[in-house]
Amino acid sequence: MLQDGAGAAPQSGDDMDRIRIVGGRELHGEIPISGAKNAALPLMIASLLTDQPLTLDNVPRLADVAQLQRILGNHGVDVMVNGKRPEDRDYQGQTLTLSAARIVDTTAPYELVSRMRASFWVIGPLVARMGHARVSMPGGCAIGTRPVDLLLLVLERLGAAIDIDGGYVVARTESGLRGGTIAFPKVTVGGTHTALMAASLARGASVIENAAREPEVVDLADCLNKMGAKISGAGTSRIVVEGVPRLGGARHRVLPDRIETGTYAMAVAMTGGDVLLEGGRPELLQGALDVLTQAGARISSTNQGIRVARNGAGLDPVEVTTRPFPGFPTDLQAQLMALMCCARGTSHITETIFENRFMHVQELVRLGARIHLDGDTASIEGVERLTGAPVMATDLRASVSLVIAALAAEGETMVNRVYHLDRGFERLENKLGRCGAEVQRISG
Ligand code: EPZ
Repeated sequence: MLQDGAGAAPQSGDDMDRIRIVGGRELHGEIPISGAKNAALPLMIASLLTDQPLTLDNVPRLADVAQLQRILGNHGVDVMVNGKRPEDRDYQGQTLTLSAARIVDTTAPYELVSRMRASFWVIGPLVARMGHARVSMPGGCAIGTRPVDLLLLVLERLGAAIDIDGGYVVARTESGLRGGTIAFPKVTVGGTHTALMAASLARGASVIENAAREPEVVDLADCLNKMGAKISGAGTSRIVVEGVPRLGGARHRVLPDRIETGTYAMAVAMTGGDVLLEGGRPELLQGALDVLTQAGARISSTNQGIRVARNGAGLDPVEVTTRPFPGFPTDLQAQLMALMCCARGTSHITETIFENRFMHVQELVRLGARIHLDGDTASIEGVERLTGAPVMATDLRASVSLVIAALAAEGETMVNRVYHLDRGFERLENKLGRCGAEVQRISG
């Protein structure tokens, strides 16, 4: 089964790396929050829209980012990575300058797209700028079927002709894209990214109805506007894009990762302790922070970020349903489930975004959790204690949920297939280790 990212078929010894965690330590200290993976990826892809350089600051050092650099390189994008300067802090993100002066290839091959689903999004900029793109269908992935029909709807509404040929989507336009109305039947982040990028270079105005309101959509729109696009309404469900003939270069800072922030907030709620999530912005994950408060964590916002604390008191169970932003994010569902494994009572978590995002359940059960699945709803009956065991998971958020459970479990947990974590969490073991967790990476 294909994965959701660069972890599909690791080629180095990284696939043998494991993380060993001995549970039972509280977390105290500071955790710096990295730039958001899910903002960095579409921002990097936006570089295809212009022949001028796009400079991105605060890009996280992640396997998915490295993989996308290779994919963009295949289209002719030159990527310059700024080295670390002596004055840089330990956890400073990297600066990438992406120059697509000349697109040398409008085909995105199966071998690359199947390793990272988000790379399908190159189709929008390629067809908008070059009038042609041939992009492999990404196929299924570990969290569900994940079709691309809504991304193709975008291109059709903007006047592209679409064919499917040998597993590839071929999108073509004779005289360039033209503005149109795109009414999504369902909220889609990738569809909204595609619409923003393609409509920016279309002739005339486009309206995107039922647009995704995720902060990463707003970040992309902000960057595109710096490049000369005319986008208004990003962050609401109706976005208007006035097409422009060309876009130019820009410099943009990637926003902080709300999923990484929420993940560490849950880790602290799980172990107890007091941690400052440096650079975290509460407005990016208020829905999730509210759930944590309800469960018994103390959350406050400071000039430096978000402070999360929990003293000896137990956790209360919660009822949560995943929803598009500003609702509770699907990308934090697995982590919340791990947390609720130790609550004083039964929680219910319903997943409405992806149909198959419960692979973590059986692994949590190996640690002693009591979880019952019924369709799209999991009932989690809190237990007195979890106990360490060897575990592994098949996607990024599921893997980190096992880390959260392991931090509170009695004894040793070995999390296998660490390459999933490396796709989306920068130096996880260092960030947790310096707050007192007993966690180490064991090289394979
Ligand atoms: C983005 O995926 C994120 N990926 C996902 O994060 C995240 O879980 C998801 O948005 C939802 O928030 C990146 O940003 C790289 P969607 P995306 O289109 O854009 C259906 C992680 O762990 N759909 O908003 O692919 C789809 O199947 C990842 O970091 C169609 O039916 O998600 C799903 O049910 C995992 N047809 C729903 O829409 C389409 O053409 C929302 O998906 C497209 C989507």
